[in-house]
Amino acid sequence: MEDRRAFLRFLAASPLYAGLPLAARALAQPTGGPDELVAKASDALDVFDLEKVAHRNIPVAHWGYLMTGVDGEETLNANHAAYARYQLRTRRLVDVSKVDMGLELFGIRYASPIFLCPLGSQKAFQAEGELASARAAKSRNALQILSSATSTGVEDVVAAHGGPLWYQLYTSSNLDVALKIVARAERAGCTAVAVTVDLPAGRNTETLSRAIRADTRQCAACHGAAGPGALAARPMYQGIDTTGLLNTSSSMTWDFIRRLRDFTRMKVLVKGLESGEDAALAVKYGCDGVMVSNHGGRATETGRATLESLPEVVAAVHGRIPVLVDGGVRRGTDALKALALGATAVGIGRPYIWGLGAFGQPGVERTLDVLNSELRLAMVGVGARSLKEITPAAVIRRA
Ligand SMILES: Cc1cc2nc3c(=O)[nH]c(=O)nc-3n(C[C@H](O)[C@H](O)[C@H](O)COP(=O)(O)O)c2cc1C
Repeated sequence: MEDRRAFLRFLAASPLYAGLPLAARALAQPTGGPDELVAKASDALDVFDLEKVAHRNIPVAHWGYLMTGVDGEETLNANHAAYARYQLRTRRLVDVSKVDMGLELFGIRYASPIFLCPLGSQKAFQAEGELASARAAKSRNALQILSSATSTGVEDVVAAHGGPLWYQLYTSSNLDVALKIVARAERAGCTAVAVTVDLPAGRNTETLSRAIRADTRQCAACHGAAGPGALAARPMYQGIDTTGLLNTSSSMTWDFIRRLRDFTRMKVLVKGLESGEDAALAVKYGCDGVMVSNHGGRATETGRATLESLPEVVAAVHGRIPVLVDGGVRRGTDALKALALGATAVGIGRPYIWGLGAFGQPGVERTLDVLNSELRLAMVGVGARSLKEITPAAVIRRA
């Protein structure tokens, strides 16, 4: 047993760490030695430096929740592997002395196309949770999407961010309740709602279950008898009778999207589409945008990488609405590849939580800074001075 622990410690400290299968990374504990871990956010050279510190800081069960995929984590791994299948196609002797990474989306200008995906329960990773993420998003002028499973109420997060913020909606099993929550998000100042549609009926988060077994603490001590994830304990369900309520709806169809469209003045997006057919339906049902996502490999197992799904969605949408994508983005070059294949904006999930878990707000800021500066260099490499100049010609699929 001690041998196995020593081996896991060795793995976590080794440069091989970044290349480990994700499930192994979830369980390998970094040693925390000063030679291996950066001491402050600004020392992080890439997001993996932040990952290691976050791994040391975050309790194992919560780390398992962050890192888990489903079943054997093939979709999770596919998200990453897909980026390696593309290479950049450089262009030279272009004046790249000025590179503008700015993105305008629904009338708002952001510093870069890299945005913060909705991730639930951020206080499980750092005491300030979503508030620290919001302050970082504000300071870097990045789009942030707040999860329905937020550990801080939407009003406080909007106040920390200064707005505008987008709200991610898990409808719960009662669609009338969902509309109440949508109204609350709109009142708080959110300008868009992204309905997550990729988790209609549960999932098997194996790595999380293994990590819970490895955690010696009692969940009930913090989460109460109802355990982690209970709706009643969630700030967005305050004042709502959660008896018998499930987190998501397995009977939701496009009719709800139509209803939501009529109900709210916020922009409506659907998060979790991966096919051209569904993207065409999103346009038909009046969505303002689609998000190509497989929930960071946490929904359907042995699915495609989002980068592989992106082109058919882009083709079906045909420029009528923005196409956002997330899943597996760990480098600015990854973001460039997604933009080249037609994404309007590129989301990150786990990487900014690594920043959060490592150093709080400065860690999230460092995540954005690192990825943005990598993206800038990638743009220079392909001779693109603005997002518009990133075309499919900027990438080539490996032979
Ligand atoms: C710990 C964790 C919690 C998440 N919570 C939510 C959520 O509440 N709502 C949602 O729509 N997606 C959620 N996601 C999915 C992310 O929004 C995003 O699609 C995914 O993390 C992107 O992949 P990446 O982590 O590889 O960057 C979560 C992902 C993780 C890792």
